[in-house]
Amino acid sequence: MLNIALPKGRLGDRVYEMLKAAGYPCPALEHPDRRLVFENKEAGVRYFWVKPSDVTIYVERGAADLGIAGKDILLENRPALYELLDLKTGICRMAVAGPPSFQDSRDRVLRVATKFPKIAGDYYAARSRNVELIKLNGSIELAPVLGLSDVIVDIVETGTTLRENGLAVVDTVCPISARLVANPASYRFRREEILKLQESLAAQIPE
Ligand code: PRP
Repeated sequence: MLNIALPKGRLGDRVYEMLKAAGYPCPALEHPDRRLVFENKEAGVRYFWVKPSDVTIYVERGAADLGIAGKDILLENRPALYELLDLKTGICRMAVAGPPSFQDSRDRVLRVATKFPKIAGDYYAARSRNVELIKLNGSIELAPVLGLSDVIVDIVETGTTLRENGLAVVDTVCPISARLVANPASYRFRREEILKLQESLAAQIPE
């Protein structure tokens, strides 16, 4: 059976629907209880729900052959795995945001709050901008509001969270979407099964 790590939450639900339509259903998973592992022997798949930011850990270490991870996690953690498909769902962007009055000045170090210090660090390094990165784990929008940082680097989907906290996008860092990822050894040794799933799933990707 192929072991597949799904991210718990809305994105995982959406991708499971794509997998189901692709011929990899798992009826047990559709009646939610507290179990985390579900299998369908006939379809040859075993799914497990993991925290979205942990998907790449399972896949990188071979506990899962395949997984679904956001491009944000791939750029931030740079795991040693193969990115097979852009699923064109879970679409959002990584952006720099700040108060509308924000004016950058190279005379001082810019304070940047983020959950993604590598992505933010790369963005500013490419611009030779000296920054102080402040790593937070959530509610990033609060940082400039309380004066903890000058700007944030965070995920923007609808823009509602920024708007409701009086912030605005200053620049887009990169587009983000969900990706199908594979463990390199699994990809070598279970190539046929994986290619079959990859092709069937590719047919479900929205235009
Ligand atoms: C993400 C992100 C923003 C919000 C953006 O947070 O960090 O806060 O979604 O979405 P919007 O543009 O549609 O408002 P998430 O829900 O993952 O929670 P977190 O802040 O605890 O990480």
